[in-house]
Amino acid sequence: MSDDNSRELYDRALSVMPGGVNSAVRAAIEPYPFFVRKGDGGHVIDADGNRYIDWVMGLGPLLLGHTLPEQVQAGIQQRASEGPMYGAPTEIEVDLAEFVVRHVPSVEKIRFVNSGTEATTSAVRLARGYTGRNKIVVMQGGYHGAQESTLVEGDAENPRPSSAGIPQSFSEHTLPVPFNDEDAMRAVFEDHGDDIAAVLTEPILGNHGIVYPEDGYHEFLREITAEHGSLLIFDEVITGFRVGGLGCAQSEFGVTPDLTTFGKIIGGGFPVGAIGGRADIIEHFTPSGDVFQAGTFSGHPVTMAAGLETLQFAAENDVYGHVDRLGDRLRRGLTDIVADQAPSYTVTGTASMFKVIFTRDGPDSLEGQCEAGCRQDADCPRYDYAPKNAADVKNAETERWRRIFWGQMKDQDVFLSQNQFECQFVSYGHTDEDVDRTLEAYKEAL
Ligand SMILES: Cc1ncc(COP(=O)(O)O)c(C=O)c1O
Repeated sequence: MSDDNSRELYDRALSVMPGGVNSAVRAAIEPYPFFVRKGDGGHVIDADGNRYIDWVMGLGPLLLGHTLPEQVQAGIQQRASEGPMYGAPTEIEVDLAEFVVRHVPSVEKIRFVNSGTEATTSAVRLARGYTGRNKIVVMQGGYHGAQESTLVEGDAENPRPSSAGIPQSFSEHTLPVPFNDEDAMRAVFEDHGDDIAAVLTEPILGNHGIVYPEDGYHEFLREITAEHGSLLIFDEVITGFRVGGLGCAQSEFGVTPDLTTFGKIIGGGFPVGAIGGRADIIEHFTPSGDVFQAGTFSGHPVTMAAGLETLQFAAENDVYGHVDRLGDRLRRGLTDIVADQAPSYTVTGTASMFKVIFTRDGPDSLEGQCEAGCRQDADCPRYDYAPKNAADVKNAETERWRRIFWGQMKDQDVFLSQNQFECQFVSYGHTDEDVDRTLEAYKEAL
């Protein structure tokens, strides 16, 4: 497997881009990342002509895979050919907004933006403006993009910026607590209840392993926020239009957040974000309200067309049946392999998300364990050992995962996400053969 072209490209990139990339995680591959030339179905082909089964799928946006169905491609190309954008409203924005409002139970109104980061930034500002409060509760290890209010680590007593360039005084308004920990959340509301504008959480942690919520956790979040007059914001940038189909993860869990942030799939592979929710809250955005929000590219017609065509295609075809079935096959296959070869490891994920977390300890017997990915089932023999929050995932064998296992998979032409924390995704472009070959590769590598 030659990588001469990728090496040369990385050499050039290092001279003109910080770390040689435009988003940090892409450089996590050592000694250098492969550069992608093009996609094909469920595969990518790199600059040296090597073909990989791709489970990264753009880090989530590519529900349909790399080869877009004809009607989706045609919709995008027609929009692009009519002039990229105008700085004036277009019908396609209304069409996509109506589609989302029709399918996502909590969304009565929506504002489109250009990235998941912009969505969470605006949602936090909206929550603060609406409630007149400053503090935001987030989950330790949850990721909500490259923004000041959420790049915060530590705990609720001692929050601090997780990046240089963020003033300590900003981070003091953000209170990180462990996911799945009701006592920690109660404590934070006892101490700060009247100052908390919102709890912001992914319904399933997708950026720090895949961590499933304990039974009743989201209902608990719904109750405690309502009790204190705080908002519940679900960050569905990853889970939106992936878990729970067109109703998103909130419909799967049966919990209605006040606000939801979207990104990734809602733009069909083009740059996108969105904030949806209760009309009386969303109306606080300018121009109807006083929470400033604007963007030159927001509601970009080409992006709106890509999003709408993708979601309509998913509504009219067996997209979710296909990706969820392959996801299930992968997780079941991995559970069997792990039981044989690495019984302390935990298979996680749901719907079309999957991951193997290299947890260090496991039960003596695996009999009766969750067969298709950890569900935090209290009766499962793995229950006490399965990661329940980001710290548990961090304590797993992250170096072995990245430095040894990832390369062994790549050598077998399987492209997994760049570290143990990022989720992996099944697309409509993947096939049963991709699943079989991937399971064989895991068998070799684990
Ligand atoms: C849950 C979640 N929120 C927000 C973001 C930020 O989105 P973007 O990278 O489009 O800014 C991400 C990105 O991966 C994410 O996973």
